[in-house]
Amino acid sequence: MQYKIILVALSISALGYSQKKKAPKEVKIKPRTEFVSELMAKMTIGEKIGQLNLPTSGDITTGAPSNSNVAKNIEEGKVGGLFNIKSVQKIKEVQRIAVEKSRLKIPLIFGMDVIHGYETTFPIPLGLSCTWDMALIQRSAQIAAQEASADGINWTFSPMVDISRDPRWGRVSEGSGEDPFLGSQIAKAMVKGYQGNDLSNKNTILSCVKHFALYGAPEAGREYNTVDMSRIKMYNDYFPPYKAAVDAGVGSAMASFNVVDGIPATGNKWLMTDVLRKEWGFKGFVVTDYTGIPEMIDHGMGDLQTVSALALNAGIEMDMVGEGFLTTLKKSLKEKKVSIEQIDNAVRLILEAKYDLGLFQDPYKYCDENRAKTEIFTKSDRTEARNIAAQSLVLLKNNNQLLPLKKSGTIAVIGPLADAKENMAGTWSVATNMEKSISLVAGIKEAVGSTAKVLYAKGSNLDYDAAFEEKATMFGKTLHRDNRTKEELTKEALKIANQSDIIIAALGESAEMSGESSSRTNIEIPQSQKDLLQELLKTGKPVVLVLFTGRPLVLVQENETVPAILNAWFAGSEAGYAIADVLFGNVNPSGKLTATFPRTLGQVPIYYNQMNTGRPLANKEGKFEKFKSNYIDERNEPLFPFGYGLSYTSFEYSNLAISSKKMGINDKLKITVDIKNIGNYDGKEVVQLYIRDLVGSVSRPVKELKGFQKIFLKKGEKQKVSFEISIEELKFYNSDLKFVAESGLFEVFVGENSSTDKSINFELVK
Ligand code: BGC
Repeated sequence: MQYKIILVALSISALGYSQKKKAPKEVKIKPRTEFVSELMAKMTIGEKIGQLNLPTSGDITTGAPSNSNVAKNIEEGKVGGLFNIKSVQKIKEVQRIAVEKSRLKIPLIFGMDVIHGYETTFPIPLGLSCTWDMALIQRSAQIAAQEASADGINWTFSPMVDISRDPRWGRVSEGSGEDPFLGSQIAKAMVKGYQGNDLSNKNTILSCVKHFALYGAPEAGREYNTVDMSRIKMYNDYFPPYKAAVDAGVGSAMASFNVVDGIPATGNKWLMTDVLRKEWGFKGFVVTDYTGIPEMIDHGMGDLQTVSALALNAGIEMDMVGEGFLTTLKKSLKEKKVSIEQIDNAVRLILEAKYDLGLFQDPYKYCDENRAKTEIFTKSDRTEARNIAAQSLVLLKNNNQLLPLKKSGTIAVIGPLADAKENMAGTWSVATNMEKSISLVAGIKEAVGSTAKVLYAKGSNLDYDAAFEEKATMFGKTLHRDNRTKEELTKEALKIANQSDIIIAALGESAEMSGESSSRTNIEIPQSQKDLLQELLKTGKPVVLVLFTGRPLVLVQENETVPAILNAWFAGSEAGYAIADVLFGNVNPSGKLTATFPRTLGQVPIYYNQMNTGRPLANKEGKFEKFKSNYIDERNEPLFPFGYGLSYTSFEYSNLAISSKKMGINDKLKITVDIKNIGNYDGKEVVQLYIRDLVGSVSRPVKELKGFQKIFLKKGEKQKVSFEISIEELKFYNSDLKFVAESGLFEVFVGENSSTDKSINFELVK
């Protein structure tokens, strides 16, 4: 403690404000603008540029290069922050270099990819989004902030809000699916969860919305590939979640790797200055993605000096790993390629963020070793994570009410994902302790105790191809490849299958088959596992498929042959417990898909809120019609639509009503619907409201989500659910990119998923 006070005092005296001997919390400093201005007046150009530099510690790296000489650079005032360094002790050490050894003793900011939890890991974001529960999502971010800040971290590179409609792209797992409205609600909830109401609290952290912009739309789903999109589509479909994060007060944003309108986002002034700052009023700072600045050389934008100047002039404040700012800005300043005002502006925004975090009052604010010991991976965090995980599971099929299962007899748990604790946390879980995650077998054993017998066999490897498995099990997320032959593995599995009353097949993707740099051209369950599944089905025993995946998969064969399918995503450190909770009915599943599951890869990109065409296919059976918009070899509909998910009970919708058939611009319409739980279990339902703008100056989607409510109904219970529609829900960006509502007819749909056709009309009159 004494040590801490001395260090704080050192930094404070160097910064020239009153030095106190008491606890650092009592240190008073000048108001932000004044404080930062005074500090900046003391800074050399080199020190200013240093604040714009964000090296990686090398603990966890995603791109090829990591930075060397970090300690020396910190000492020389050439570093503004550091990221992906884990543990309070290490962070404290590094902070000590900054506040004891650098000339101006400016504290560093410490970032990390705390994407879906810290050590207590929640479902991957795509799974989390399927809860449709904003309070739970916010809570998950709050717990993540609590744990991360207890371990020295004060900045997270989350939320990732990139809309994606292409399941080939591996990072669909890290976002909230295909819908801008839901994505915006989630973006807000996450920012609020991380930042709370006061960033200077020791358990809140700075959030960073990413990847701005359009990163989720790479051509052909290939990672880092070109994006080409009309501005009207950007504004209506892809921008809203970023804007929602800005509206929620997000403190920082990350530029994406891709081009936007031909110019890399990192050097795109229209995007970073005109849209983000001028139109949306963003007040935080923008960091590049990993080596985003030097990558512009490969994009063909010029040499390092040119692209670094391009980035700064576009409105980028911080350079992640690239060291383009560090090594070229001084020269560019001399050559008048950048201005001192632009550098000052960037420095100011970064120092302001540090000020807001309270780092100038106490650089060790997030370095409380006692907190690290008592506030991470706690029993109560794990209990909440288990609950959140159970809410994220989506029941895709349940013939003859096969689920929930009874805790009796003999249960065979078979598959390469069954005993795979290292994979449960899913992708981008850098702080998780894989050893402590709960596998499915472990969860099931714990759930049944001595009331049922649980047998396990691996049954197959992830894939027949060992080289593929290696690529799909990186970062220690091993599946312990079994070197026995296919026949031996199958034989062992069939032996226990035949002794059992029920088979739980734990199949799908490994954690690293999705996430960054994990694009796929085949989005089915790998063949080795498909073959195993068919062998298991041949036993005639009932089979439940527990599916692990980080993306929508093509599941036509499984849907035709398996009686029950529970999509478990990667549910986090408590996955095994949570899946067992649902399998045995302690929790009634209520997750609903936030990304469409196609019937075939050929349908991709496929999403519910598509435009109509001039030749829509009108017949409801989806029969082929010549000269209509359809395929000769496949139906248009997906296998499972957006918003879809079953429950152990069922809900009946009736009495859809509207308060008026005409709406003036200042009016609010009330839409009501009765929902009744007509099944045998208490359960939750996500009631979804979609709107179609039937006539407009531009073509509008066939349906757009504009409201939802998650309700709980006891068995037999009925509730009237009401939604309010105001002019805001009817607005869209027109071809002049003006956000307007146009008079005319609208259709409102309310139902259990996006394919609902229960609707009612009204007219907007101006
Ligand atoms: C990813 C970002 C991440 C960054 C830092 C990049 O490769 O695209 O999402 O925040 O690495 O780890």
